[in-house]
Amino acid sequence: MRCESVILAAGLGTRMKSSRPKVLHPLGGLPLIAYSVDACRQATGSEPIVVIPLDAEEIRRACGPGVEFVEQENPLGTGHALMQAAGRLPGRSELVLATSADMALLRAETLADLVEHGRRHPGPITLLTAISPVSRGFGRLLRSEAGDVVAILEETHADEKQKAIEELNVGAYVFRLDWLREQLPRLPRSAKGEYYLTDLVAIAAKAGEPIEAVQVADLDEIIGINTREHLAEAEAALRRRINRHWLESGVSLQDPATTYIGPRVILGAETFISANTHLEGATSIGEACRLGPNTIVRDSRIGARCEIEMSVLEGAVLEDEVSVGPFAHLRRGAYLCQGVHVGNFGEVKDSRLEAGVKMGHFSYIGDASIGENVNIGAGTITCNFDGERKQRTEIGDGAFIGSDTMLVAPVRVGRGSRTGAGSVVTRDVPDGSVAVGVPARVIRKQEVGKDPHA
Ligand code: UD1
Ligand code: CA
Repeated sequence: MRCESVILAAGLGTRMKSSRPKVLHPLGGLPLIAYSVDACRQATGSEPIVVIPLDAEEIRRACGPGVEFVEQENPLGTGHALMQAAGRLPGRSELVLATSADMALLRAETLADLVEHGRRHPGPITLLTAISPVSRGFGRLLRSEAGDVVAILEETHADEKQKAIEELNVGAYVFRLDWLREQLPRLPRSAKGEYYLTDLVAIAAKAGEPIEAVQVADLDEIIGINTREHLAEAEAALRRRINRHWLESGVSLQDPATTYIGPRVILGAETFISANTHLEGATSIGEACRLGPNTIVRDSRIGARCEIEMSVLEGAVLEDEVSVGPFAHLRRGAYLCQGVHVGNFGEVKDSRLEAGVKMGHFSYIGDASIGENVNIGAGTITCNFDGERKQRTEIGDGAFIGSDTMLVAPVRVGRGSRTGAGSVVTRDVPDGSVAVGVPARVIRKQEVGKDPHA
């Protein structure tokens, strides 16, 4: 039995006290909406329909490609939001999974299990519940003496006795589509002028239809995000979940409480991460690396057996056995081949450092190609910006760049060449030459191929 999904994301989110739509607030570095899109896609095997406000370009972008959108012109409640999507569904499926974009921690497995129950259940509604003394403002399940679900009561309408009910409506439902389409127009309008999706439960119960409740065991999953306090709670719960996953996969975390690993990050076994390390975005780390403490790695690809200490990497690629830091900054387009070392206060941007390059101290390399086994002396700078454009620097294999060399780009230092300490290189240095001074002049030739560092 085919099941499509609808994600409700058109509410005002007023409790966030934010000028930005609730579903765009970041959780683990991704917009909230991304989680329900992923989970619904996985649970149903098809693209979700997302109900969004008018002119919500940013929400559309945050959902990524594939997703279908329906606009809800006025946010007249969850029932009204579902009505907007119902017209899109006929002929596509028999069942529909409806959930909220603010329930970002509901796992795909949990939703898939709900769908499975929905397939087997003969009645029109199968819904997710949780038993918890912490109500989080959720609706309560009302049951008859016989134990049948008869209604969902919103917390604002509950009296003290009803508020004590610990069976909560999580806000994820599987409906039989033909029944849903028939009943949605019958939803009553509340005193506040809203249509509550949850009133469908009483409508079904009154008609003698059975309603199935499927319980979620892990209470972290039901942290819905209505306020910024909830968002912070969700962030902590997500971190626990992700860190637990990596600990079980053979990664060591010195201090999980201060380790922030994004949901899209991939880590190799035997990697050791020390305290206060943030791994963000589309980052992958190979096996047996040592990272941290106090390190940020964002959208970077790191090979095996690398060591990164107290550094910031953004959009960088490191092959195997690269060591970085402490206090290095690798920026977009930094490509460090096998065995490269970038030491303290090194910055690299849009540059390729071939295997074995050593850049130990206080250097800036930007828009450059650095050949194999080049040694970059302390304080070397590629002067890559001429005031108008970025210019390139090229350094041949085996060159030795003396301390405090200024490479005024565009410029090339040949293979096996040396520059003297404090030289300002404004013109190309041929292969196998020694250049010194300001501006640098070639004072000697040396044979390339012999040990250039001798
Ligand atoms: C809802 C349920 C409540 C449940 C809780 C759990 C209703 C009436 N109440 O309450 O029983 O315990 O979720 O998650 O359904 N939305 C729209 N259009 C609207 C209004 C809301 O798309 O006009 C979307 C919101 O963006 C949000 C979702 O629907 O993603 C839920 O709305 P919200 O206002 O957060 O409902 P709750 O008060 O949490
Ligand atoms: Ca909510």
